[in-house]
Amino acid sequence: MASNKKRIAVIGAGPSGLAQLRAFQSAAKNGEDIPEVVCFEKQHDWGGLWNYTWRTGLDEYGDPVHGSMYRYLWSNGPKEGLEFADYSFEEHFGKQIASYPPRAVLFDYIQGRVKKANVRDWIRFNTPVRHVEFDKATGQFNVTSTDRSAGTEMTEQFDNVVVSTGHFSTPNVPQFDGFEQFNGRVLHAHDFRDAVEFKNKRVLIIGTSYSAEDIGSQCWKYGCKSVTVSHRTAPIGYKWPDNWTEVPLLTKLEGNTAHFKDGSSAEVDAVILCTGYQHSFPFMSEELTLQTANRLATANLYKGVTFVDNPELFYLGMQDQWYTFNMFDAQAWYVRDTIMGKITTPSAADMKADVAEREAREDALEDDYACIVYQGDYVKELISETDYPSFDVDAANEAFFQWKKHKKADIMGFRDNCYKSAITGTMSPVHHTKWSEEMNDSLESYLKN
Ligand SMILES: Cc1cc2nc3c(=O)[nH]c(=O)nc-3n(C[C@H](O)[C@H](O)[C@H](O)COP(=O)(O)OP(=O)(O)OC[C@H]3O[C@@H](n4cnc5c(N)ncnc54)[C@H](O)[C@@H]3O)c2cc1C
Ligand SMILES: NC(=O)c1ccc[n+]([C@@H]2O[C@H](COP(=O)([O-])OP(=O)(O)OC[C@H]3O[C@@H](n4cnc5c(N)ncnc54)[C@H](OP(=O)(O)O)[C@@H]3O)[C@@H](O)[C@H]2O)c1
Repeated sequence: MASNKKRIAVIGAGPSGLAQLRAFQSAAKNGEDIPEVVCFEKQHDWGGLWNYTWRTGLDEYGDPVHGSMYRYLWSNGPKEGLEFADYSFEEHFGKQIASYPPRAVLFDYIQGRVKKANVRDWIRFNTPVRHVEFDKATGQFNVTSTDRSAGTEMTEQFDNVVVSTGHFSTPNVPQFDGFEQFNGRVLHAHDFRDAVEFKNKRVLIIGTSYSAEDIGSQCWKYGCKSVTVSHRTAPIGYKWPDNWTEVPLLTKLEGNTAHFKDGSSAEVDAVILCTGYQHSFPFMSEELTLQTANRLATANLYKGVTFVDNPELFYLGMQDQWYTFNMFDAQAWYVRDTIMGKITTPSAADMKADVAEREAREDALEDDYACIVYQGDYVKELISETDYPSFDVDAANEAFFQWKKHKKADIMGFRDNCYKSAITGTMSPVHHTKWSEEMNDSLESYLKN
């Protein structure tokens, strides 16, 4: 490529990073002169969290394992909320499929679009980025990476950096009294891999969000003796199965007895901390590091993507997520057009005002329905500024609304429902087997409809 081209570093080839590659490739396909794009991926393959690994702790090179997904994971939201506007499920599978695909099916779908776009060669696999700093003298970023196969390290210059390394991989691990003496296993959701391990066990879960409800549900489905969910703020409140209890926060463990804030206690065999994750970017120099809570309006990101303190730097997918794949697309197209000079970034003061306005609007939201509309509006806002194919975001919102109602009606049966695609307008078929009875989560089995 010509040496006067801008050079862009994309860090991470999960759904967000792949959205960025697809965004640039689609501009190239339209005849535009795109920058040189280099994507660094720590793992051997693309797909981010959807690329399942059995490993926990450290990987074969001594780096922290990125994966937090587990066996038998099925989408926890309807696929109609995440469908790519430029690559429908029907295009990928040649037919409409049911609404809550297992991990392998979504992994296949994610790969289909980027295989078609032919961008695999843009990615340096097995190459974690170790350090990023900004050189004020050159106005460029110095990006240091390790080619783990060759055992070599190198530093290169880039005009822009797009960080798409996700934020559900570095666990938030609180301590509770008695963990040291507990006679069972204590683990964080990040290290959970197979619910069968907990068959016939009494499982204590700390936390009340998606990991808590889904890991608890997995343990229930695969035959644990009981599930006790301990909350810091409020119980989840669904109509749970008979062997499922919700209790206040754990105060201590004595042997196998767990004591809770209301004075109650329960005998447990294992503790699973579903206590969330930290935004962690150990490879970014301090002044380039995003520091934010897991919320819809991320701190310090103009339009949710442009780093206010250095607008040549971008972060994708750092929001708490109702919308996922198509929101990453909306962001990636916006970042592409900013990098290519089609969208102008305002002054630092205006960017800060934009962040503050988004935070204030989020703080005023009253319930989950309002949060869904808020993030849907954000997707609408970004796609209206680029050539990302417009789609019926209200219809995607509607799929999320139905999902919430279906969970309330039957938490172990909500995945048996189906919805209408916001992209193609077609209705999904009902899956051939109820989620609670379906032990086969393979792609082949799911596509049998
Ligand atoms: C258990 C679990 C279940 C989920 N289930 C769903 C679901 O059902 N539906 C849904 O829509 N969303 C789900 N999500 C949300 C998930 O965040 C998104 O679907 C999606 O994976 C986010 O994509 P990402 O590319 O931003 O991050 P990730 O998928 O985390 O990908 C980041 C990539 O960056 C790479 N990387 C990290 N550090 C470096 C480095 N230093 N150098 C180079 N590469 C690096 C990683 O190896 C990885 O490939 C789930 C999340 C979790 C934790
Ligand atoms: N099948 C699936 O698709 C699936 C399965 C699992 C996860 N996911 C995804 O994974 C992502 C992360 O979800 P998550 O549930 O891991 O994280 P999360 O949504 O950030 O929730 C963290 C939970 O931990 C609790 N918590 C944090 N610190 C605590 C402490 N010190 N003591 C007690 N409780 C504490 C929080 O309680 P408070 O409310 O009190 O703050 C909250 O309930 C989501 O995007 C989710 O959709 C998907």
